[in-house]
Amino acid sequence: MVKRQQQPLSLNGYIVPKHIAIIMDGNGRWAKKRGLPRQAGHRQGAENLRRIVNACVEFGVQILTIYAFSTENWARPESEIKGLMRIFARVLDQETDDLNAQGVCLHHLGDLSGIEPKLQDKVRRAIEQTKDNDTLILNIAFNYGGRAEILHATKMMLADGISPDDLDEELFSSYLFTAGLPDPDIVIRTSGELRISNFLIWQAAYAEYYPTPALWPDFGREELYKAIVAYNQRERRFGLVIEE
Ligand code: FPP
Repeated sequence: MVKRQQQPLSLNGYIVPKHIAIIMDGNGRWAKKRGLPRQAGHRQGAENLRRIVNACVEFGVQILTIYAFSTENWARPESEIKGLMRIFARVLDQETDDLNAQGVCLHHLGDLSGIEPKLQDKVRRAIEQTKDNDTLILNIAFNYGGRAEILHATKMMLADGISPDDLDEELFSSYLFTAGLPDPDIVIRTSGELRISNFLIWQAAYAEYYPTPALWPDFGREELYKAIVAYNQRERRFGLVIEE
């Protein structure tokens, strides 16, 4: 078990967002630009994920949530889906020990039962192995969709017989996959797309949105640092009026 080190309050004078969420987009375009198959882009994407996890640990980010496979991604060609599952399995096989040594605690967001049983087991084992770590929580959204998450939470609340009088935002949040975690401060989307694509649609209600033209395999430590600087230049209002 690796305990969280003293968190730096700032990084070169900039406040480090507690919770960073990333829509990792542009693997396919990264590969196409180089005349490579899409799978090569996804492999580079996985390598880049390792760099970004290292950077989050270095910068003192407490929670990183990544969108790795959406409920909509099942519509992709079967060969690409299989390729993404293989990458996920390989990441778990090859990286879990190192992530554990770094103090990373793995969580899964989404419907685990929808993926093949061997991969489910690998995910469960990695979660179990890293459960006591608290340097960085790494939420892997895999077979995840924001609407499906809200429906799932609603069904669970109905099954638990929650009365409408008792239901408030705090109770609702406690039924989401992110129960107990603070909401993301910033949502980064690579590859220049300006959509939220069903990602953390409840949790990111007040997050700062940071689109960047960098394709995911090219979004490295320096790009993450730039996102943190940009976050510091935003004025977070949470719907309030800020007095001059
Ligand atoms: C979007 O790019 C990316 C994905 C659908 C997959 C993200 C997956 C990884 C980065 C692999 C590593 C992570 C794990 C844990 C499995 P795209 O293919 O839509 O790119 P495009 O829009 O340029 O085609």
